[in-house]
Amino acid sequence: MTQMLWWQTGVIYQIYPRSFKDTTGNGIGDLSGVIEKLDYLSDTLGVDAIWLSPFYPSPMADFGYDVANYVDVHPMFGDLQTFDELVLQAHRRNLKVIIDLVPNHTSDQHRWFVESRASRENPKRDWYVWRDARPDGSPPNNWLSVFGGSAWEWDQATQQYYQHSFLKEQPDLNWRNPQVKEAMFDVVRFWLERGVDGFRIDVAHYIMKDPDLRDNPPNKAHEAQIHKSLGAYDSQIHLYDKGHPDAHQVYHEFRQLLDEYSHDQPRFSIGEVHIFDWPVWASYYGKNLDEIHMPFNFTLLGVKWQARVVRSLVDRLEAVLPAGAWPNYVLGNHDEPRFASHLGMEASRTAAMLLLTLRGTPTLYYGDEIGMTDVSIPVEKRQDPWGKRVPGLGRDPQRTPMQWTSGLNAGFSTADPQALWLPLSPDYQRVNVAVELNDPRSMLNLYCSLLTYRRSHLSLQTGAYQPLDKMPEDVFAYVRRAQGFPGILVVLNFASAAVEAQLPGEWVGRLVLSTHMDRGGEIDLQRLNLRAFEGLLIELDA
Ligand code: NOJ
Repeated sequence: MTQMLWWQTGVIYQIYPRSFKDTTGNGIGDLSGVIEKLDYLSDTLGVDAIWLSPFYPSPMADFGYDVANYVDVHPMFGDLQTFDELVLQAHRRNLKVIIDLVPNHTSDQHRWFVESRASRENPKRDWYVWRDARPDGSPPNNWLSVFGGSAWEWDQATQQYYQHSFLKEQPDLNWRNPQVKEAMFDVVRFWLERGVDGFRIDVAHYIMKDPDLRDNPPNKAHEAQIHKSLGAYDSQIHLYDKGHPDAHQVYHEFRQLLDEYSHDQPRFSIGEVHIFDWPVWASYYGKNLDEIHMPFNFTLLGVKWQARVVRSLVDRLEAVLPAGAWPNYVLGNHDEPRFASHLGMEASRTAAMLLLTLRGTPTLYYGDEIGMTDVSIPVEKRQDPWGKRVPGLGRDPQRTPMQWTSGLNAGFSTADPQALWLPLSPDYQRVNVAVELNDPRSMLNLYCSLLTYRRSHLSLQTGAYQPLDKMPEDVFAYVRRAQGFPGILVVLNFASAAVEAQLPGEWVGRLVLSTHMDRGGEIDLQRLNLRAFEGLLIELDA
């Protein structure tokens, strides 16, 4: 067996820096706050890598996904020295550092765009997508912005439209111009040289569009094209405004660049690729596994939470993966409602066991490990531009401050509570790290136990996945086994009623962990009783 790398055996933890830990008292989290919490991440929780959402200089129209300078740190978050210290301290603790790369668009305040919009003759004009109006003055085509309205903004001064897949403050770069690629690859080099271990690539599949900018066809049934409805954006089939296969060449070269820097330190990339056509999604691994190391697998998001449905997704993924490609799973991120809110607290414990025992790299979203839920944000405190433009699609509820203690601002910040960038969850005195560490059966202790066990068992990190048939309808069960190691059996009850499962007659095992955290030891596998929403982790005898 080839040696597995850190991004295959490890667990990634996503930090939304604004919301993690504020050390300056301004109500917004910062990089020193991340440094302060590294011991929690590496020792208490036991994850292997952190992914930092953008911390770059930005006017914050989209909270950092509008980058005004790719090679610096927003003063609100710290500076390059703070970042270097973060990498140093993370590496001392054996934690890898993954940063967010936003290649599809810049901020309209980025100097590249400022130059580009200065005149039609500007050498950087072609770094963005500029087009004339149609004869009637309307935009060049019918493309829509994900965040609502047309994807084209009129520039009065130079009398042309520019294209933006998201806000008008986030103009799309023209990746068909080789200078753009070179400039972005220089950005990548800058961070690789500062020691980062990997990149999460924002909307990786958006960078290449139809070169003829053809109109998208209508989506007559208006059905969602990813795991959730996106409002008016769903009125079209997004055939031409993203996902053009020319992106593969870019990611192939990007991979070569990462590989050049991988001799002593394996570097990694994970792409945000919302494509539900499995083979097209899988193509981002590259024909010879020579593009993005992994496209994020978002299929568990918003899925009907039934054993049969979840199993079929896992089986499907295993079937479509190109030979040698490594799977991954996510249950949440800064764009998605928190799963504890839609599954409920009991089923989210089963979900945690699923996520941390499937074959593939799990990515955890900050706060999910303590059972944080979506927070209803009063209108006057709402921040997310998407939610302001398209009611119902706002992402503030899942971005509220991390809950560390029962004290002031949940230990997130010393600011006046009114000054927090988003309000705290009202449940913070009950749901927080300090309280949960003292409760042996808390969600946090469940995550810690799962992560500790996973870390010390190769079968869970790298072993094969074997689903079990003939299980009761609400049960999803599988065995993970690495060659030469005992198998680990995972049995998950998705239902709110107790159920009995029967494993093959000769199987013998020992219960290592129940999601209820109240039993262990010898267990009868031929009459395996599971309580409502109970998940069991069982070590099989060789
Ligand atoms: C995807 C990011 O995850 C999201 O937060 C952002 O708003 C868009 N890309 C635009 O960058």
